Amino acid sequence: MSEFAAVDVIRAKRDGHPLSDAQIDWVVDAYTKGIVADEQMSALAMAILLRGMTPAEIARWTAAMIASGERLDLSSVTRPTADKHSTGGVGDKITLPLTPLVAACGAAVPQLSGRGLGHTGGTLDKLESIPGWRAQLSNDEFKRQLQDVGAVICAAGEGLAPADRKLYALRDVTGTVEAIPLIASSIMSKKIAEGTGALVLDVKVGSGAFMKDLESARELARTMVRLGQDSGVNTIALLTDMSTPLGLAVGNAVEVTESVEVLAGGGPADVVELTLALAREMLTAAGIDADPAKVLESGAAMDTWRAMIRAQGGDPEAPLPVARETEVLRATADGVVSSVDAYGIGLAAWRLGAGRARKEDPVSFGAGVLLKVRPGDEVRAGDVLLELRADDPARIPAARDEAAEAVVIGTEPPTLTKLVLDRIA
Ligand code: URA
Repeated sequence: MSEFAAVDVIRAKRDGHPLSDAQIDWVVDAYTKGIVADEQMSALAMAILLRGMTPAEIARWTAAMIASGERLDLSSVTRPTADKHSTGGVGDKITLPLTPLVAACGAAVPQLSGRGLGHTGGTLDKLESIPGWRAQLSNDEFKRQLQDVGAVICAAGEGLAPADRKLYALRDVTGTVEAIPLIASSIMSKKIAEGTGALVLDVKVGSGAFMKDLESARELARTMVRLGQDSGVNTIALLTDMSTPLGLAVGNAVEVTESVEVLAGGGPADVVELTLALAREMLTAAGIDADPAKVLESGAAMDTWRAMIRAQGGDPEAPLPVARETEVLRATADGVVSSVDAYGIGLAAWRLGAGRARKEDPVSFGAGVLLKVRPGDEVRAGDVLLELRADDPARIPAARDEAAEAVVIGTEPPTLTKLVLDRIA
């Protein structure tokens, strides 16, 4: 591999020049090995955020991140594989009901998931609220469960795209998360390395998402769909609203409870709608002809959920942790709920202990926010709007302020946004 000086690569991007394939291969490899220092990669990430990258640069950067680690070979799995990735949101527990549902329809679903950081929740934190459940599986355990149960949700192994693990942690503390080339290559390097045959991306748009407006979300979706298709992964994207939290529960155990309600045939309408919309896309992309609504109704998805949780040491019947303290927030006047801001509710849940400030912090499984109203609901003064739950009472005041600001009561009914805003194939 050619050798470069990191500072020349940084200068080239800073001055708006596209990086060559050799420069990209070198800088990603050298950063993974610790030859390029964090401060140099920080400067390069900022130059990429400000200057952007051409499609060819993004494709090469993604390939270099994949090449930094191993690629899983899922050819031993006999069913078609289909995965879903969400760019992250508030109350986004869709992976929990979706994975067993799509498996119950005949696909194998390899879900390598992450933990929450900041105001967005993480699937692994939610599942770890189930007594006994373990997130770490070896590659062999992962493949065996995928074949036997058809559904796995677990942590990505250390060997998968290590360049991304290092770079993502750096971006998180250098204000460079929101660069489309870096988000797209980060997500797609892991998904391509994981070996799935089909992939459905749920690109979130709105206050609770990384992408705040529809146009940037579309650009991110197009970039990722192209990267997937060019690597032989049948990829499509849905753009979905994240201005309001998904469902009525935001936290860890409370989101597991809501997901189980969906698997039992109930649950909030928006969670059911998005679960079914993503399931249909995954099944079509995997070439499976099945109706997920019927499968959900039959109870087969619940059976797969139980099998999936048990396979990873969890007890699906065990009671989930409940927070020690509860406080309710009430409406101070009559009116109509104009908005429930996803970012504000996400931040409140985080302050209550559902999320972490640093990667090594523990989360409180019982903490979170329960929404008692949705945009468009009429309320009377004194009605309960939100329930705040925390293990540590000292966490409640700051969360209360954040949560109170997130619910806006007006006089006129708001125009309600659609949940699925666009589809990019
Ligand atoms: N999720 C990822 O895996 N990477 C990003 O850059 C953003 C969200």
